[in-house]
Amino acid sequence: MAGILAIGMFLSQGIEDIGARANLIGVDFGSSFMKATLVRPGKKFAIVENTAAKRKTEAMVTLGKENRLFGADSLLASGKYPLTTFAELQRTFGEQFDAELVQKMKEHRFITNEIAADERGVVAWKVTSAGSGGEESGEELLHSEEVVAMLLQYVKMLAEKQAEASVRECVITVPSWFTYDQRLMIRDAAEQLAGLSVLQLVHENTAAAVLFGIDKVDKEAQNHTVLFYNMGGMDTEVAIVRYSHLNVSEKSKKLTPYIEILAEAHERDLGSKDLDLVLFDILADKFNALKEREGKPDLRTNPRATKRLLKEAAKIKEELSANKQASVKVPELLDYVTLQLTLERAEMEEKASELFARVTRPIEAALAKAGLSMDEIHQVELLGGGIRTPKVTELLEKALKVKELGVHLNGDEAMCFGSAFIGSNSTMNFKVAAVMLT
Ligand SMILES: Nc1ncnc2c1ncn2[C@@H]1O[C@H](COP(=O)(O)OP(=O)(O)OP(=O)(O)O)[C@@H](O)[C@H]1O
Ligand SMILES: [Mg+2]
Repeated sequence: MAGILAIGMFLSQGIEDIGARANLIGVDFGSSFMKATLVRPGKKFAIVENTAAKRKTEAMVTLGKENRLFGADSLLASGKYPLTTFAELQRTFGEQFDAELVQKMKEHRFITNEIAADERGVVAWKVTSAGSGGEESGEELLHSEEVVAMLLQYVKMLAEKQAEASVRECVITVPSWFTYDQRLMIRDAAEQLAGLSVLQLVHENTAAAVLFGIDKVDKEAQNHTVLFYNMGGMDTEVAIVRYSHLNVSEKSKKLTPYIEILAEAHERDLGSKDLDLVLFDILADKFNALKEREGKPDLRTNPRATKRLLKEAAKIKEELSANKQASVKVPELLDYVTLQLTLERAEMEEKASELFARVTRPIEAALAKAGLSMDEIHQVELLGGGIRTPKVTELLEKALKVKELGVHLNGDEAMCFGSAFIGSNSTMNFKVAAVMLT
């Protein structure tokens, strides 16, 4: 990352407003969830709650018969409207339609919608209208930006409701592997379509690292090196970050935190949702093997049953994080046949061995880029929902040989709070102490 960026430090009492009274949001645009933090002059940072009073919203949208559904409502409706429910938005955002990753996602049923290439060759979502009320039925292509803008608009609306005022500016997290074009496209989605002005795009781990530097690192620490490991829904990203403190003022002895991102690495197709797919396959195979299904087509050929079983797989995965076995029950999954069984965590772990074999790969890549060995890392901080899978932490513990795997930040919310923090300085609307970031 070029140059030094002065970013702000907010004090726990709140932020002093010295400029225009503009509110802003830090948005963590994840592949599974969208989370946002609201910054208002003179008030503490606050998470943006959705209409169901939840602190995170599933990053998906359903075009229902009469309205747009978001979050849990969209997830609930995905079985009924599989072809107009759009998920996997971040992983497909700005990707070329014929890219191997996209084709693999289709093949692996991450995408059950009809997708096509738009005029740029980028993934677009096909929507077929039924043609009710006399108008022609037809097919429409929704661009990647249009669908993501719907989500951003929703988040803006929630933030404005909470702020009881307009919210115009934002900082958005992006994966470290986003290309220049993908960055331009997300800016367009926010600025041209969702009515938000983008102050900055930041990497997820950078946002978390800034937050960490504010109050989790000793105020006089020099060369304190922290490895951030973030397993989200669709990827795993690692950043190695060094914290020092510099005296940049001739007048005062006050030290300013100095944060260097030494290296970043990622494993693009290693995320918690990949585990959902492993579980989905186990369950689909068991369903297909039922006596009642003899001679019947594979469940995977039915979009509605596929969506329902994917949803169950995600639920079962979380249960298997807490317990060694889980009860599966999907009533009348297909043709009035119910799926009911008990699944062992060990069976999932065995079937997911290819995924687990890659858990430590981005760590090795980041260490190599930074020219460091694990002995030179003082702390490891875990982020993202994927680290709740016991096998993941077990593998990390074995490989990292550090005293503790830290969870000092709220691994779900550090990214949106960090980006809100970065944004609070970029506008000059808030009086904030400096942190230097390179
Ligand atoms: N208890 C749990 N056990 C296993 N997985 C879990 C658990 N809780 C949440 N997850 C998984 O974590 C994932 C979401 O994590 P997170 O919120 O970090 O993703 P994201 O930020 O949206 O994705 P990304 O960073 O990849 O874009 C989901 O796939 C979810 O199923
Ligand atoms: Mg994430």
